[in-house]
Amino acid sequence: MPTVLVVDDDRSMCTLMISSLKRRGYDARACHSGDEAVNAIEHDAVDAVVTDLNMRGMSGIALCERILARRPEVPVIVITAFGSLDTAVSAIRAGAYDFLTKPFEMEALHLALDRALAHRALQVEVRRLREQVRREPSFDEIIGQSPKMRALFEWIERTAPTDASTLITGESGTGKELVAKALHRKSARSKGPFVAINCAALPEALLESELFGHRRGAFTDAHSERTGLFAQAHGGTLFLDEIGDLPVGLQPKLLRALQERRIRPVGSDTEVEIDIRLISATHRDLPKMVEKGTYRDDLYWRIDVVRLELPPLRERGGDILLLAQHFLDEYAARSSKGVHGLSEAAARRFLDYPWPGNVRELQNAIERAVAICQYDTIGLDDLPQRVQSVTASTVPDIGSFRPMDEVERLYVQKVLDSVQGNKREAAKILGFDRKTLYRKLQKWGLDVSDD
Ligand SMILES: Nc1ncnc2c1ncn2[C@@H]1O[C@H](COP(=O)(O)OP(=O)(O)OP(=O)(O)O)[C@@H](O)[C@H]1O
Ligand SMILES: [Mg+2]
Repeated sequence: MPTVLVVDDDRSMCTLMISSLKRRGYDARACHSGDEAVNAIEHDAVDAVVTDLNMRGMSGIALCERILARRPEVPVIVITAFGSLDTAVSAIRAGAYDFLTKPFEMEALHLALDRALAHRALQVEVRRLREQVRREPSFDEIIGQSPKMRALFEWIERTAPTDASTLITGESGTGKELVAKALHRKSARSKGPFVAINCAALPEALLESELFGHRRGAFTDAHSERTGLFAQAHGGTLFLDEIGDLPVGLQPKLLRALQERRIRPVGSDTEVEIDIRLISATHRDLPKMVEKGTYRDDLYWRIDVVRLELPPLRERGGDILLLAQHFLDEYAARSSKGVHGLSEAAARRFLDYPWPGNVRELQNAIERAVAICQYDTIGLDDLPQRVQSVTASTVPDIGSFRPMDEVERLYVQKVLDSVQGNKREAAKILGFDRKTLYRKLQKWGLDVSDD
């Protein structure tokens, strides 16, 4: 239950607001002067303040300034008399989060408070992440704290020391190459070489001689002997990126090399022994390709002994902000710009955007944002158009992760608001029977009076 301080020297107004807020599930407390409020702010847990602007003694503006100085994370909503827009503007300048003009509906106050608290929750979350990035950045350079990434780290830890062929799958830009390097560094072969090649980047003949090497004169352009990547990776790890794009003609040759642990350079009649651990990666669906006959199943079984699956970024929750903060620190330092963090609005969009290009897309978005940012936080204007214009989900704006029960309460409240408190109507929308709705309202201490 968030605690809200209501500050007004008009006692009847104060009482009115307090009882309405209590009905709405807030723990609301009254203060009848600015001094009293400053004292409460300093000594008690307060989540938000609602204050009248014109009070005897300390004015609402002076109170805003004091709260900003002492507890900047506490949002303040000021209530101004009708027609005093100038004072409202100076209140915002003094650090108020929002203002309401008298007379106002209680509903408007509730909405402003919900918004202010969601804003604060996200702000606290962004600050926490910033600390976290600085404290315990990563698992071997791979940033992530989400359950899916933690499970992956454990799996890397467990499988790195083996020599088993490992296939890393995941959408483009999810960090497959990063994981391949981490596997190598954590293996017994870490002192040996890590040799990487992208199988999609070369035509078949060139790729073959890259992989297996060739003798001098093996083909027209072979002016000298060349050691292949298999031989270069001897004692270490060979990373075949985009293995799903390996030309069909090379598939049996690779299979043979892996089975026999020997290779024959192009144009040579002697075989050489190889000692490598194979890590491959693909964004393709290899089992499906096997099924359709476009990929050899015997090769597939050889390379997919251990499987590591990288989740898409949109399934990593708060990691999105963690990574954003990490890249932000990096690019800000590199360009020596004083950009510290994301604004709440930008963070919100980052969480709503589906990131089809995953971490690489996020990295690019941050690089661009840091380059064009004119202030010390990245705002909506600094984001790529597609991120800016993402339509938020239909889930109510509740800041970052909250317990399910709280999410449910906020959602039910939202639905109730949209039907002017008509419980019969709300129950219909929510798919509850009326009894269930009343039981829930009662549990949350909300208004259970009949329609
Ligand atoms: N968890 C992470 N923490 C920090 N940086 C990351 C993370 N994941 C990816 N990156 C960075 O994002 C970029 C893309 O990662 P990477 O090249 O490993 O992706 P990929 O899955 O191999 O993509 P593709 O399929 O397009 O080759 C790199 O700059 C990488 O350093
Ligand atoms: Mg890659």
